[in-house]
Amino acid sequence: MKRLTTHITTVAALLASLAGAGAAHGAIAAKRMAPPTVAEAEKFVAEAEALLTKLDLDSARNGWVYNTFITDDTEASVAQADEQRLSAAGELALKARRFNALKLPQATARKLKLLQLSLMLSDAGERASYTRLAAGMSGAYGKGKYCPKLADGSTLPCMALGELEKVLAENRDPARLKEVWLGWHAVSPAYKQHYADYVALSNKGAREMGFADTGALWRSGYDMPPEAFAAEMERLWQQVKPLYVALHTYTRHKLRQTYGPAVVPADGPVPAHLFGNMWSQSWDNLYPILKPASNKDDDDLGRALVANKTGPVEMTRYAERFYTSLGMEALPPTFWSRSLLTKPQDREVVCHASAWDMDGKGDVRIKMCITPTDEDFKTIHHELGHTYYQLAYRKQSELFRNGANDGFHEAIGDTVALSITPDYLKQIGLRTDAPAGSDDVPLLLERALGKVAFLPFAYLVDKWRWDVYSGKTKPADYDTAWWALREQYQGVARPAPLAAGGFDAGAKYHVAADTPYARYFLATMLQFQFHRALCREAGYVGPLSRCSVYGNKKAGAKLQAMLAMGASKPWQEALQAISGEDNIDGGALIEYFAPLKVWLDEQNKLMSSK
Ligand code: ASP
Ligand code: SER
Ligand code: ZN
Repeated sequence: MKRLTTHITTVAALLASLAGAGAAHGAIAAKRMAPPTVAEAEKFVAEAEALLTKLDLDSARNGWVYNTFITDDTEASVAQADEQRLSAAGELALKARRFNALKLPQATARKLKLLQLSLMLSDAGERASYTRLAAGMSGAYGKGKYCPKLADGSTLPCMALGELEKVLAENRDPARLKEVWLGWHAVSPAYKQHYADYVALSNKGAREMGFADTGALWRSGYDMPPEAFAAEMERLWQQVKPLYVALHTYTRHKLRQTYGPAVVPADGPVPAHLFGNMWSQSWDNLYPILKPASNKDDDDLGRALVANKTGPVEMTRYAERFYTSLGMEALPPTFWSRSLLTKPQDREVVCHASAWDMDGKGDVRIKMCITPTDEDFKTIHHELGHTYYQLAYRKQSELFRNGANDGFHEAIGDTVALSITPDYLKQIGLRTDAPAGSDDVPLLLERALGKVAFLPFAYLVDKWRWDVYSGKTKPADYDTAWWALREQYQGVARPAPLAAGGFDAGAKYHVAADTPYARYFLATMLQFQFHRALCREAGYVGPLSRCSVYGNKKAGAKLQAMLAMGASKPWQEALQAISGEDNIDGGALIEYFAPLKVWLDEQNKLMSSK
């Protein structure tokens, strides 16, 4: 993820000096004021941006310290900094309304619109509770542990999420997988009530700003009406669903062969603990079980990284070298001195990977507990995609220092990671041999386990939250609604009956940390569109899965030009700039996987006739 910097903060005195100030709550006061002028609007925006730049830094610093050193004190500090930021955000958002009817230059109008995509909690006590709850939940997630109890009452050493994920990735004993799965899902009930209270406050803030609820606020960030955005998500899902269903069907057969019919049913949802991942959201770790029998290639990136004793810094250097090969700048020295790349042993941190833009001027960092695995190798390329976006748009002004939309931000590094092909790995010495070009199925299957398997999960996380925020799903129904969606879209089931007072959605980082998730669904579509466009730019012809733009300055320049736009234009224009397309579309993804779809359909037919 990219850390959410929904610009803002307050210092009441500074705020009071802003144009249009004088009354805290705009709507009524504004009516009494003289009609605003274009000059006033521009002055207001300039002053707001200057204020936000200053206050964002404070919030980012407190957030960084908290996320890399979770204590009661750092929790209180970040909550306080975020409260200040929220307070300013709300006031600026309300004041910005005063200029809505004016005919303004495009950039100013866009900035005023962006300013209004914010919560407004006018009650200071509620604001403080809101930011305390938020900080508390992400800290509780970060510190979460499963402490196995033996039958005799003694306990084994507690396990953090990273260790539990490793078991799910590597172990093939279904009882052990289930134990570990349930162990992690026993962490989140402790903050279920906090989450419910937080949702209520968040909605209150969204409503004060005139949104129906926080879900509607989230759906309003895409240069289209919120209802149109929800319809877009559904359209995209329908487009890629047949591919997912084919992959799920094939995977079920293989899991049945591995675990037997008593564990994996012939139809209906498949138990969620068997996919090699805590949320069954990507199935990369099932590759050894799923790969075609004829495939003899056992060159494995994870094994090469371990054999070479590739440390976290060197892993990150590999990713940096990809970006510089495209013509991008080297990461600044402060990136290396200030990032957290290794899990510290002496304190609690939030290990979930994230990329931070501290000051909008080049103090960029990542925070990630890097291990030498295939998955982390890709995730570093993902995080540096955020970093290079942040570096590219640092010449924009404050409100435009952001992605064209949040899906773009999530898509950049994944686009680059699509260029991690066997040939590329051979070129950089992480593979001894690249398989012949004739059979692309193994490669495509491996990719599909990361990308296609992810689609329904990426869609349903916010489908669940939209209903939570709208009030359709009440706290008592959190788990029922969550599992209805997981069965319907992913085709997976809870490995045990629902727990009383359970909060399974809260076992996912982005729910505990209240980070929107639709962005990952969009990013999965966009990265194939970007990849196809960059490969074309590089003059590549051939299957998209074999294309790597490594070292191609022409493709790099095309990408960089879009990154440098930041959020200054509607995302449709940014998409045009890189791809000539003006719509997010699953077509490129479907084209990429087309040979795999044919193969999966054949396999599924064979297996069902057995
Ligand atoms: N980049 C991921 C995300 O955006 C982080 C991860 O996969 O660990 O949440
Ligand atoms: N990074 C996101 C997650 O961890 C999407 O892959 O869920
Ligand atoms: Zn990300």
